[in-house]
Amino acid sequence: MRQYNPSKRILVTGGAGFLGSHLCDRLIEAGHDVLCVDNFFTGTKRNIEHLLGHPQFELMRHDVTFPLYVEVDEIFNLACPASPIHYQHDPVQTTKTSVHGAINMLGLAKRVRAKILQASTSEVYGDPEIHPQVEQYWGRVNPIGIRSCYDEGKRCAETLFFDYHRQHKLRIKVARIFNTYGPRMHTNDGRVVSNFIVQALRGQDITIYGDGNQTRSFCYVDDLIEAMLRLMGTGDDFPGPVNIGNPGEYSMLELAQKVIELSGSRSKLVRMPLPADDPKQRRPDISLAQDKLGGWTPKTQLDEGLAKTIAYFDQLLSSSSGAKAD
Ligand SMILES: NC(=O)c1ccc[n+]([C@@H]2O[C@H](COP(=O)([O-])OP(=O)(O)OC[C@H]3O[C@@H](n4cnc5c(N)ncnc54)[C@H](O)[C@@H]3O)[C@@H](O)[C@H]2O)c1
Repeated sequence: MRQYNPSKRILVTGGAGFLGSHLCDRLIEAGHDVLCVDNFFTGTKRNIEHLLGHPQFELMRHDVTFPLYVEVDEIFNLACPASPIHYQHDPVQTTKTSVHGAINMLGLAKRVRAKILQASTSEVYGDPEIHPQVEQYWGRVNPIGIRSCYDEGKRCAETLFFDYHRQHKLRIKVARIFNTYGPRMHTNDGRVVSNFIVQALRGQDITIYGDGNQTRSFCYVDDLIEAMLRLMGTGDDFPGPVNIGNPGEYSMLELAQKVIELSGSRSKLVRMPLPADDPKQRRPDISLAQDKLGGWTPKTQLDEGLAKTIAYFDQLLSSSSGAKAD
């Protein structure tokens, strides 16, 4: 595998979001010039405030559904709301962000001959019939449901990436990201890890949708970012798609139990009806990533990652600025 070469000009779209801000941190640490582009729909300046003023960091407020003209060597395209509450808030804008955003970023990559990585998602597999999911699986997605703006938007973005690759010989990388958690997740985004932690820390009932036996895998943010950096550093003959996630599988009941234990909360579990199109099971097969990403494998155990995330939310909720921020 080629070494990740320092001192490039790197654009991170969605750089003020949960994953994007951690990616900016790692790129700055590695000595790159980072241009963070974000429209602050779900991202916040708080996530990147420690980077403001750094000579190699630049922040630009911009919506990726409009063209962007900048000189860069690499693009990490992360701009897109990722949680159902956020992406269903304005579903038309969500599809536009995925599709027009991809067209604009691919157009930019073509003009400046930059290498470009797409933050795709396990949602491209929909409610899968095979388990765990491998990259060859085409998925089972409802094209007209309430999650379709995100799922189909991301699928169309993958199509665009591969057509630019075939038609214009663009150097592309497609990462299919599975559930990731960690510090800087949103407090109120309805995703299960942040939901449970915030409810536990506030001493509120913990909401379990359905019977709680549906399972998910959870990847700690540091492991995910490491894989994305390694993917960008792979040779031009490997466009992906590649699953990135942690295959450890936990039911919602198990996760709730762990959060209660680790936070020392007295919260009780309450049941609510399952939302429409909610997949019953999802777990990545990461053999391809382990093979192609220089021996990468997720290192952070769920208990360790949850403890760090709980500490982050604890601090955020107890600081007055954090309480107001969401
Ligand atoms: N976190 C996960 O578990 C997960 C899983 C699969 C895929 N992903 C993908 O990773 C990427 C980042 O996800 P995240 O969890 O950090 O979400 P996030 O909501 O924290 O970050 C998304 C960022 O994109 C910005 N954004 C949204 N629309 C934009 C637009 N039109 N123009 C410019 N910026 C825009 C938001 O303001 C935010 O800063 C997304 O593309 C998401 O689909 C994340």
